[in-house]
Amino acid sequence: MADLPENIHPVFDRILSRGEKEARLRQQGRVVWLYGLSGSGKSTLAAALERRLHAEGLVTHLLDGDNVRTGLNRDLGFSEADRAENIRRVAEVAKLFVQAGIVVICAFITPTRALRELARRIIGADDFVEVYVEASADTCARRDPKGLYAKAGQGQIRQFTGHDAPFEPPVQADLVITTDRETIAQSLERLDSLVHSRLKLPSR
Ligand code: ADX
Repeated sequence: MADLPENIHPVFDRILSRGEKEARLRQQGRVVWLYGLSGSGKSTLAAALERRLHAEGLVTHLLDGDNVRTGLNRDLGFSEADRAENIRRVAEVAKLFVQAGIVVICAFITPTRALRELARRIIGADDFVEVYVEASADTCARRDPKGLYAKAGQGQIRQFTGHDAPFEPPVQADLVITTDRETIAQSLERLDSLVHSRLKLPSR
C-alpha cells in the first residue's frame, strides 16, 4: 500500500478474510448506493429494499443520511467540505460491512458526481451499485415530507440541496428510478433484480 499513514502497520493479511465470511453467510458483500434530492423517495425505497432482501434471507444493513447524521456524522453540516467528509466516512463504513460479507444499502443525497466517484473509489467498482432516485426539485418541494423546502424558501436553511446548493444529475447510473412515474412495488422489483444480477449467490 503506497499511501499508508506513518507508523501504521495494518494486519489485513492475517485476519479472517472476506471470502471466509461470505462463505459462512452464503452471500456476497455489496453496496447499493441510492442518491437523489431530499424528498425523492430514497429513504422509503431503501427501507423497503432492505426488508425485501432480508425476507429473501440476505444479511443486510442500511445506512441512511438523516440517521448517520445523528451519530457518527453529527459533527458535520452541509458545506461542500462537510458533505465530502460525510460521504467519505459513510463509504469507509460501508466498505467495512462489505468486508464482513453484508449487503449494505446507503441512502444519501450525494449531490455531485465527484462525491459519487469518491464513494465508488473507496468501496471499489465491483462492489458498488449506483442507483439514482429521480424526482424533480419541483416534485420534491411539493411533497416536502419534512417541511425543509418551505424552510429553505423562507431562508431558514442555508445550502439546501436543490434550492441554494447544487445537485448534479448522473451521466450514467446502474439504474434510474423515477419515483413520480412508478409505484414503490414497481421500483422494488427493478431494484431487487439489479441487486441479484450483481450477486453470485450459491443455491440456498
Ligand atoms: S449529503 O448531501 O451529505 O449526501 P445526507 O444524505 O447526508 O446529505 O443528508 C440529507 C438530509 O439532511 C436530508 O434528507 C434532510 O433531511 C437533511 N438536511 C438538513 N439540512 C440540509 C441541507 N442544507 N441540504 C440537504 N439536506 C439537508
